[in-house]
Amino acid sequence: MDLNGKNVIYSGGFGGIGQHCLKELLSNGIKTLAILDVKENKEILADLQKAYRAATIIFIQFDITNKESIAAAFKEVVERIKHFDVLINGCGVLMEHNIDITIEVNLLGVIRSTLAALPYMAKNNGGRGGVIVNISSVAGLDLMPYFSIYTTTKHGVTAFGRCMADQKAFDQFGVSFITVCPGITETNLAADYHKKVTFDFYQEYCKKLNTAKRQSGEICAKNIVKVLRTGRNGGIYMLDVGEIKEITYPEFWKAEF
Ligand SMILES: NC(=O)c1ccc[n+]([C@@H]2O[C@H](COP(=O)([O-])OP(=O)(O)OC[C@H]3O[C@@H](n4cnc5c(N)ncnc54)[C@H](O)[C@@H]3O)[C@@H](O)[C@H]2O)c1
Repeated sequence: MDLNGKNVIYSGGFGGIGQHCLKELLSNGIKTLAILDVKENKEILADLQKAYRAATIIFIQFDITNKESIAAAFKEVVERIKHFDVLINGCGVLMEHNIDITIEVNLLGVIRSTLAALPYMAKNNGGRGGVIVNISSVAGLDLMPYFSIYTTTKHGVTAFGRCMADQKAFDQFGVSFITVCPGITETNLAADYHKKVTFDFYQEYCKKLNTAKRQSGEICAKNIVKVLRTGRNGGIYMLDVGEIKEITYPEFWKAEF
């Protein structure tokens, strides 16, 4: 998608990866940016508004664990910016000790905000179509048993993106789904892994994981926006140590009639 002149919603925009994505999107000439997050970051907002004066940048507070809050946020976006072409679902937590919050934010949150956005975007409902990017993880491709709840939610996000990209759904909605799966990226989420494990016996391994090769938030953001510009409906892209790799899946099963 050519981003020039587009209206974009970014949920989780003030996070470590999110804040770099906001700059990258604005550098690609988007017209309007609606940032959704649980807490306003006035400093980031003011810096962006100063640096990208041609764009309209708004913040709407929401809590992705709350259905009503999600619905209200999308309603407010549309009241304020009329329509949007892109939604990036970028909220996430790594909190193995809190199963409910992990599932609520990482999986239910992505599903609920996608389903809240679709009626506004869907061509079969008078919308203009567009692109939804879901941020999964390498933990949504392969196993991280030391973060087993997180891994489970991210596998769900990857599967959801693949299902929503089905041709029949695309024919109805005209909305493409792209899933990005970052590897370890320098943000608060990826700090002190050993304190975030599912079971204490993984602490030693995760102390080592703290020193594993990682990419900057800036590089990750550049590649997220590159994939948004050039990716295909249903594409699953691993973004690890600065590289982009499209993932393909074998077919294991098909219904027989
Ligand atoms: N950092 C990594 O190594 C890494 C790797 C792979 C995938 N990811 C994924 O990338 C995304 C961004 O992660 P990050 O590393 O920038 O983390 P981060 O903690 O810096 O940012 C997470 C964002 O989600 C928001 N958020 C959390 N709970 C929320 C709630 N209840 N309601 C609304 N917003 C909420 C936070 O306010 C924050 O802006 C997440 O989906 C994460 O799982 C991160």
